[in-house]
Parts: sequence; structure tokens; C-alpha cells
Amino acid sequence: MLEGKKIAVLGVGMVGKALVSGLVRSHKVAPEMIVGSTAHEESARAAREKLGIEVILDNRELVQGKNIVILAVKPKTVPKVLVEIKGALSTDQLLISVAAAVRTKSIEEALGKPVPVVRAMPNMPCLVGQGMTVLCPGRFADRGHLALAREVFSAVGRVAVVDDEDLMDPVTALSGAGPAYAYIIVEALAEGGVKMGLPRELATELAAQTLLGSAAMVLETGEHPALLKDMVTTPAGVTVDGIMALEEGGIRVDLIKAVMAATERARILNR
Ligand SMILES: NC(=O)c1ccc[n+]([C@@H]2O[C@H](COP(=O)([O-])OP(=O)(O)OC[C@H]3O[C@@H](n4cnc5c(N)ncnc54)[C@H](OP(=O)(O)O)[C@@H]3O)[C@@H](O)[C@H]2O)c1
Repeated sequence: MLEGKKIAVLGVGMVGKALVSGLVRSHKVAPEMIVGSTAHEESARAAREKLGIEVILDNRELVQGKNIVILAVKPKTVPKVLVEIKGALSTDQLLISVAAAVRTKSIEEALGKPVPVVRAMPNMPCLVGQGMTVLCPGRFADRGHLALAREVFSAVGRVAVVDDEDLMDPVTALSGAGPAYAYIIVEALAEGGVKMGLPRELATELAAQTLLGSAAMVLETGEHPALLKDMVTTPAGVTVDGIMALEEGGIRVDLIKAVMAATERARILNR
């Protein structure tokens, strides 16, 4: 689907680089078809060397003639670059924004013409091709635009779509911020192993692979996590004692509260 498409990545920082690497690695897009931009020549040079694509400093020139423009600068930089590119963008180009807490409506209004916009919320594991991206179409984006955006982000992991943009706040709080929660869980599990005598490196490997494998079971079997948990929990066995200690500590409520608190913050930033 992306064959022959020219792609501009406005801001080849962490997320922009992960996307370019994924697109090239998966052979969805040839490096010659992608051009990036940065704010500084030094970072442009570094990105050119790392990614093997052309990277320039002129955003207007960047977007001209591209089929897909991926906006991957920090949210505070978005208004400034939209002013720069609005004259060069046409309604037959697709703009995909990964900027957290920036609504499609504000982008559409800033552009002042019916350019199709898709908002995307990827997460950090995109860097290793195991990301989770949620897409939400703007007012002028149709199924074809969404399908193109899906194709882009499937190069770096799984993709889901929501139609109601208000849901992008809990998405940001769950899968966007989620890797941070997961790292805390990995770290704490490993600490438990260390406390009980395991070497730290081994304990961290056991904790991380256990989370990875358990998550894969949920996605691949489609079973309810509670059922999978019951399958591991032998009557009068070892696991149930561990579960009791977790429940006593209130892990469920803590994780629910984490998503609630981060959603509230995302809502405030949106405003
Ligand atoms: N990090 C995450 O886990 C994550 C997850 C989901 C969404 N996001 C969103 O992704 C976006 C990018 O985040 P990031 O972590 O990749 O940021 P980042 O690493 O700081 O990258 C930002 C990039 O934008 C470039 N840039 C800044 N001003 C520019 C301008 N005027 N014109 C062209 N390029 C410009 C920077 O270039 P210089 O280096 O030269 O300054 C840099 O390459 C943000 O909007 C964020 O909300 C991030």
C-alpha cells in the first residue's frame, strides 16, 4: 500500500527515527522515498548517518510533493511548524500527527483547509518493533487515509483505531504512558528475585521475559487474563500465595488509579 508513496517525517527525533527505521526495515518503503527534517544541522547529520535518508532543515520544502507527512515534533512546536507548512500543504496529502494531547481539530483549524489529518498515539516499544499505536481520524480523513496510517504504524508494532477522539486521553494514559508502569513492575519483580537470592541480571531477564510472554499469551489466545491467571494457579500451590500478597498490597487499584490520574492529566493538557 505504501509502495511508490513519498513520505516526509517532520522531526526525526526518537519517534520519527523509530518510524523511519521500521518502514525501511520492513521493506514497506525504500529509504529514497523518505525525507526527514530537524531543527539543527547537527541532529540532521546524525539522523542522515543513522537512517540513510535525506534530512533537511526546511519544513516547507520537506512537505512539498509528499503523499504522507508525519508530524513528529514536540507538542509545543506544533503550532509553529503548522504555520510554516500550511501554504505548502494540499488537500490530497495526508497529515499524520503523533503529538500527544494535540487534537485534530486544532491542527485542521491551523491549516485552514480540509487537509485529511490522522492523529496517532504510538508508544516507546515502537523502537524495537513491538509498539502499540492507536489512530483516530480527523474530520476530513476517510477510510483510505486511515488504512495508509495503519500501514505506516504496523511497521513498528500493533495498531488499533478509535473514532471518538476523547478516547485518545485514556489511550495516552494506558498504552502511551504504559511502558513506564511496565518498567516499574519489571524492576520490582526483579528486586523480589534479588531479595530471595537471584543474581540481578538473571532476575531482570526472568521478570521482563515473563511479562513479555504473558502479554503474548493474552494477545495470541484471546483468553480473558483472569482465566489465564487461574490456569497458572494450582490449588494450594505456590502462585496463590504470591497473588495473596499482591492483592494485600492493592496492585489492581494502584494500576487503575495510575490510568485514571494520567487520563486526567492528558485532558488538562488537551485544553
Ligand atoms: N516519546 C514517546 O514515547 C512518545 C510517545 C507517543 C507520542 N510521542 C510524541 O511524539 C512527538 C515527538 O516526540 P519525541 O520523543 O520523538 O521527541 P524528540 O526526540 O525530542 O524529537 C523531536 C524532533 O523534532 C525536531 N524538531 C524540533 N523543532 C523542529 C522544527 N521546527 N522543525 C523540524 N524539526 C524540529 C527535533 O530536532 P532537533 O534535535 O534538531 O531539535 C527532533 O528531531 C511528540 O509530539 C510526542 O508527544 C512521543
